[in-house]
Amino acid sequence: MPLVPMRALLDHAAENGYGVAAFNVNNMEQIQAIMAAAVKTESPVIIQASRGARSYSQDNYLRHLMLAAAELHPQIPLAMHLDHGNSPATCFSAIEQGFTSVMMDGSLQEDGKTPSSFEHNVKVTKEVVERAHAAGVTVEGEIGCLGGVEDGHGAGGDPMAHLTDPAQAEQFAAETGVDAVAVAIGTSHGAYKFKKKPTGEVLKMSIIAEIHRRLPETHLVMHGSSSVPKELIDIINAYGGKMPATFGVPVEEIQEGIRNGVRKINVDTDNRLAITGAIRKVFFEKPEEFDPRSYMKPAREAMQAVCEARMIAFGQAGFAPKVPKVSLEEMARRYHRLGR
Ligand code: G3H
Ligand code: 13P
Ligand code: ZN
Repeated sequence: MPLVPMRALLDHAAENGYGVAAFNVNNMEQIQAIMAAAVKTESPVIIQASRGARSYSQDNYLRHLMLAAAELHPQIPLAMHLDHGNSPATCFSAIEQGFTSVMMDGSLQEDGKTPSSFEHNVKVTKEVVERAHAAGVTVEGEIGCLGGVEDGHGAGGDPMAHLTDPAQAEQFAAETGVDAVAVAIGTSHGAYKFKKKPTGEVLKMSIIAEIHRRLPETHLVMHGSSSVPKELIDIINAYGGKMPATFGVPVEEIQEGIRNGVRKINVDTDNRLAITGAIRKVFFEKPEEFDPRSYMKPAREAMQAVCEARMIAFGQAGFAPKVPKVSLEEMARRYHRLGR
C-alpha cells in the first residue's frame, strides 16, 4: 500500500473510538522498530519526522526508508507526517518530498520558541491547508503552546503559561479548515515534564473534554505524550546513565483523552529512553563489543516493545486490515467536494 494521508487514519480512529500513536524517527532502525510493532499488533501507524530529523537524515533518505517500509508491509496503513513545521515553506518542502501529512505549528513564530499571535497562526495554517488539501495531504495545526524548549518546540519553562483556550480552538478550526488540532494541556516535550505523578492541577485533561464538546468533528492531538516509564530510566541509570527522577503523561490519562476525541498521540522520548538504555546495557556488559549491530539490534527491539505497548494501549491494535484504503488523489477530491 502506498503511504496514505493521515486524515484517512484519523477518520477511521474517530469512527471506531481509538487513538493512533505518532512516533518520531531519525533513522532506519527506528522505522524498522515501528513497522515490526505495527505488523505484530496489526496496527495502522503514523511515522513522523521533525525539522531536526529531516536535517539529520536528509529528506531523500527518509523518503526512501518510508517507501521501503510501505513496500515491505503493504498490509499496514502508514502515514508520513512532518512534526512541528515552523513555516509554510517547511511544510511545502515536506509535501514535495512525499510526506502525506504536515503539521503547521503556527502557535510559535518561525524560531520555534516565541509564542505567535492568533492572527499569525490562522494566516500561516490557512495557507498550508489550501495547498496541502489540493494535494490530498493532511494538516495538523496547534493552538496554545507546549512548555519547555530543550527537546523540540515549546514556548519556554512553564507549560501552564499558554494552555489552549477552547473558544479559540473552535475559532481556529473554523477559520483554517485544519484536519487535526494539537492542544496544550500542561505537557512539554522531552523527559522532564512533571516532578511527580501529574494530577488535574498540572495536566488539564478537562481542556480536551471541553474542546471535544465544541469541536466534535475535529481530530485532537496530544503532544509531549511520552509516559517516561520509571523502568526505562532505571535501565539507563543502572548502566552508567545519570537521569534524575521524572514523570511523564500516564497512559491512563491518554486513554481518557482518546475517550474525548484525541486521535493522534505523539511519542518520541519513550523510544529515545528505550534505545539509550539498551545501548548502555551492551556497552556496560560487553565493553569489548564494537560492531554497531551488537547494540543497534537490542536498541531496535527495546523501541519495538515500547511501540507495541502504546499501540495496544491506544486501541489501534487490530485495526490495520480495516482502515479504508484512501489515496492522496481521492482525498484531494473529497476536500474539493467539501469546498475545503
Ligand atoms: O518536537 C519534538 C520531537 O520530540 C522531535 O524532537 O526536534 O529533537 O527531533 P527533535
Ligand atoms: P515526547 O517528548 O513526550 O515524546 O513528545 C513528542 C512530541 O510531542 C513530538 O512532537
Ligand atoms: Zn510536539
